[in-house]
Amino acid sequence: MEYLEIKGGRSLSGTVRISGAKNAALPILSATLLAGGGFEIDQVPDLQDVRILLRLLKELGVEVKDKGPSGLLLDSEKLESFEAPYDLVRRMRASVLVLGPLVARLGRARVSLPGGCAIGARPIDFHLKGLELMGAKLEIREGFVEARAKRLIGAHIYFDVPSVTGTENLMMAACLAKGKTVLENAAKEPEVVALGEMLREMGAGISGLGTGTIVVEGSRELRPVYCKIIPDRIEAGTYLMAAGAAGGELVIENCIPEHLETVIIKLKAAGLKIKEAGPGRIKVKKRGRLKSVDVKTQPYPGFPTDLQAQIMVLMATAGKLSVVTETIFENRFMHVAELKRLGADIRVEGRSAIVRGVKYLYGAPVMATDLRASACLVLAGLAARGTTLVQGLEHLDRGYEKMDEKLAALGARIRRVRQKGDISRDCT
Ligand code: EPZ
Repeated sequence: MEYLEIKGGRSLSGTVRISGAKNAALPILSATLLAGGGFEIDQVPDLQDVRILLRLLKELGVEVKDKGPSGLLLDSEKLESFEAPYDLVRRMRASVLVLGPLVARLGRARVSLPGGCAIGARPIDFHLKGLELMGAKLEIREGFVEARAKRLIGAHIYFDVPSVTGTENLMMAACLAKGKTVLENAAKEPEVVALGEMLREMGAGISGLGTGTIVVEGSRELRPVYCKIIPDRIEAGTYLMAAGAAGGELVIENCIPEHLETVIIKLKAAGLKIKEAGPGRIKVKKRGRLKSVDVKTQPYPGFPTDLQAQIMVLMATAGKLSVVTETIFENRFMHVAELKRLGADIRVEGRSAIVRGVKYLYGAPVMATDLRASACLVLAGLAARGTTLVQGLEHLDRGYEKMDEKLAALGARIRRVRQKGDISRDCT
């Protein structure tokens, strides 16, 4: 089994380069199903989730070729299947993003229902109801959703709560529908906007990107394009917080500061010195003990749920008491029990975690349960006195490109260890 061995207490310094955004790459790669011919996608992150989606696209008949270090050439001219099998969808729930494009392009799709995950039930009812409103006939059978539509018809769709992949799935489907589709209370995340801009390049008539109301004029046909994936704001936010956890001074390059506005406001309030250092570069410095701040996750542009676990590490050793409230997912505090093993003083009350700052965290073996919890435990290991062993790296590798190597290059004492058998919880 594999784990990360982290010897904490060492501050970080240097420059870290941010990779392409996982949550932009997944919908953008899925959108290549909408048009035959040669797509060129650049700055694709080398992540487990992306590898699984590429495997699915190949099984559907998409031709996928490498082009340089982080580039891909894709061609969906000859699609051979409309089925997304369970073993791929259960491992990467965002595979559901092929549903809208397949129904729109082929008139048919058979996609395994993704099932829940560690952070919540993660239903896809908005995706399905939206497709039905657009005229698709849906059937749930043997754990699959089967969808058929001669040609989708534009519809007025309202999301009870903004859904990122729900907005993405239906926006893609609407691009080949007959007539106009309005997506009301749509998600405003930069990854949704990036997908919409690519769809526009492909010839779709889309307006309202980044607002709560997206309007799509359907076309008969779309064309393949070049697209460069935007930098990953959650990875960038994670490295800002790595400086907050370990101390020191970092430059984060290849990022888009305005995508991190709320996060930077919150981190500055906690006492981190953050300023722009040229195009696409942010400088962050930690001086002294951080102050406790309250955090409440919200849809974009609010504080992102994908950085909730990471900021909790900073609050665990901050001055006083911080209330961290998770409003998006119903079970996204799995990292709390692990942080308490490192000496954190945290009490969960419903959707809020009450974090009382302690002077130090102390290293111990911990287990990651989901993607962002794994990043949080790495940051905790950087902050803790002594050695922390982080298990469950399959979660980390889903969403962070070479995180241990990037941190080691910044001076962290971190190494990936492969050994037989499990680590006993008692060893230190
Ligand atoms: C996307 O997940 C991201 N994943 C998540 O990132 C991110 O945390 C989340 O958006 C934030 O909203 C990708 O983009 C691949 P939602 P998604 O639909 O689209 C409810 C990470 O760590 N809902 O925006 O699945 C849902 O239960 C991952 O990178 C329904 O009720 O999330 C939640 O409470 C984790 N019915 C809320 O909406 C639906 O049909 C927002 O979920 C869809 C969603």
